Amino acid sequence: MGIQIAPSILAADFANLESEIASVADADWLHVDVMDAHFVPNMTLGLPILERVVQVSPLPVDAHLMIDDPDMWAPRYAEAGASSVTFHMEAAAAPVRIARDLRKLGVRAGVAIKPGTPVEPLFDYLSEFDMILIMTVEPGFGGQLLIESTLPKFRALRAAAKAAGSEVWIQADGGVSRETIARVVDAGADMLVMGSAVYGAENRGTEIAALRALSAGGRHG
Ligand code: DX5
Ligand code: ZN
Repeated sequence: MGIQIAPSILAADFANLESEIASVADADWLHVDVMDAHFVPNMTLGLPILERVVQVSPLPVDAHLMIDDPDMWAPRYAEAGASSVTFHMEAAAAPVRIARDLRKLGVRAGVAIKPGTPVEPLFDYLSEFDMILIMTVEPGFGGQLLIESTLPKFRALRAAAKAAGSEVWIQADGGVSRETIARVVDAGADMLVMGSAVYGAENRGTEIAALRALSAGGRHG
């Protein structure tokens, strides 16, 4: 599998979502950040908007739930049409049960950890998840600087996945840019979320191609 690129519509113009989504059609996934003003100090959108985004998006939707009580809500986002649903470990009462519920609904099950949350506790459960999102900034806002000290977690997870023969995808989210992309891929990420790096560019198609080329330079073994 090549590196997957997932532009985040958090950096898009919310008044023109349909054309903003169409402008990143050259990517692989559309990353949609759901925030509830409780789990993170910001609020974005919920089920009704996600449902419409799925209908107009040429790309499969990768929903990133930064919300409390994912045990109740995560399956609803699968039912609303997301192709991948990622919930936060820190907010979950029963992470494995949520992942199993998601898979039963036919979507990819992802679990996310904040910069301060260790990755090792997930090593025994790799088979339960399709993706692990290692946050490279504190969740809540776009346009922040990548926290370099999160990179060793990618290396540790990549090694654990390799040892276990796991095909789990490793996603990086936050501060991934032309400047940092090769380092993030080198550390072991294979799915990259990018908000400001893609939406800040005049021509998103050209930018996605440029970022893809740069990511190839950091390809892990
Ligand atoms: C932050 C979100 C990210 C955000 C990334 O909590 O999860 O998806 O859009 O934005 P950039 O790429 O600008 O750091
Ligand atoms: Zn996100």
